[in-house]
Amino acid sequence: MKFCLVVASKKGGAGKSTLTQIIAQVLANDGQKVTILDADPNKPQFRWREGKSKLNIKVIGDVSEQNIVKMIDDVQEGFVIVDLEGVGSRLVARAIARADLVMVPIQASGLDAHEAGNTIALITEEEELLRRKIPYKLMLTRTSAMIPSKIERQMVTELTGMGLSLMEAQLNERAAFKSVFVEKLSLYELSENVSGLQKAIQNAETVVKEIFA
Ligand SMILES: Nc1ncnc2c1ncn2[C@@H]1O[C@H](COP(=O)(O)OP(=O)(O)O)[C@@H](O)[C@H]1O
Ligand SMILES: [Mg+2]
Repeated sequence: MKFCLVVASKKGGAGKSTLTQIIAQVLANDGQKVTILDADPNKPQFRWREGKSKLNIKVIGDVSEQNIVKMIDDVQEGFVIVDLEGVGSRLVARAIARADLVMVPIQASGLDAHEAGNTIALITEEEELLRRKIPYKLMLTRTSAMIPSKIERQMVTELTGMGLSLMEAQLNERAAFKSVFVEKLSLYELSENVSGLQKAIQNAETVVKEIFA
């Protein structure tokens, strides 16, 4: 079995790299083979791999417009997750063309609904070009772990109203999701001192379950 998940959003800071890392960790902890292709110019995944995590996550950092398709195709088994840059480049288009599923993370701010529409338009263009459906799921990120804010509720209404495929699960704003990059460890390896760690793990697993449902 091979599955290619591409994490895309034209907006920088939407939560692509965080979502990529969190999905990879949950899958790897579940015994799956995971390869991350790090196409973020800041190479967050590549730097994470320099840490001590024992999870079976392979990170490939030297990804370019020229080699992205081959890099995806070269992976024989397990999950390939592509962490993209926040633009509409040829690299992004090529990765989307190879995707089994595109995840589009968005933050709950007014401007981001518009950006989400732009990213979906990019996916639609690829669908037309390739004459195949490219499944995608929108997901709100960095949302309140407690009571949804007014703007979060408005976003849900707005995106659903636009007829977009919005996931029910949301990735909450959690210290643990930052700590994994600071400590270069997985959620399952962080010190119990990290606040809300168990809730973060629960949240991450709920998200991954819905993505692959
Ligand atoms: N769920 C989250 N909880 C806490 N911080 C988050 C979360 N998602 C993203 N961040 C923070 O927001 C910033 C941008 O996130 P990042 O994943 O790098 O976005 P992108 O890759 O889309 O540019 C980073 O500082 C990251 O630590
Ligand atoms: Mg990034």
